[in-house]
Amino acid sequence: MLLSWICVAALTHLAAASAVRAPHQARVTVPSQTCISYEKYVGIDDNTLSYSPGCADVTYDCLRQNGTSIWSHQACVAAATCQGTTGVITLNQCQNPNVLEATDIPNLAFTIYTNIVGSCAPDGCPITQQNYIDFIYGAMSAANVTEWPTSSEDVITGWWQPILDWTATGDTIPYTNFNDWLHYSNS
Ligand SMILES: *[C@@H]1O[C@H](CO)[C@@H](O)[C@H](O)[C@H]1NC(C)=O
Ligand SMILES: *[C@@H]1O[C@H](CO)[C@@H](O)[C@H](O)[C@H]1NC(C)=O
Repeated sequence: MLLSWICVAALTHLAAASAVRAPHQARVTVPSQTCISYEKYVGIDDNTLSYSPGCADVTYDCLRQNGTSIWSHQACVAAATCQGTTGVITLNQCQNPNVLEATDIPNLAFTIYTNIVGSCAPDGCPITQQNYIDFIYGAMSAANVTEWPTSSEDVITGWWQPILDWTATGDTIPYTNFNDWLHYSNS
């Protein structure tokens, strides 16, 4: 009885806390023309002209989730790496007004990070190139991609290398730096 009262109190407290939005956590209203441009650019409805049909499919898979904590969805994290963060965040904001601006989106879920690096995640191991390749191909597989990237070399130079360049953490990327990239790269 006491325990359940504590639970209710805790839940009520949580609900109250989340209802009060800090002033800097602005909601974003994206102009519809911007949404249409991004849909075309990414290839959401028609991926034949997109620069990567595989990445377009992963982005579409992300949007199907329609989440607000978008960095706790594998498809959204994967889509950000191949599409850039701006397009993925904007398209999510287009369909869901509760998706906050880039810097205020909740942190990368540790479960997703664990999916990427494996069981060494709690020890703080960084993402390796091979981890990334396995992750992005896994996300494409989950998105039922039919037109795959022509080579993993393209995936490395086109998708992995720009993130490495931004984080400047050598050949691998620790959790914190990857999480920063998701929030601040405007890529
Ligand atoms: C996504 O969620 C928002 C907020 O709940 C809702 O208004 C919107 O209609 C949803 N969009 C899609 C495409 O499901
Ligand atoms: C991929 O295909 C499976 C099996 O048909 C289906 O359950 C799943 O929803 C599909 N995923 C996407 C993103 O279309």
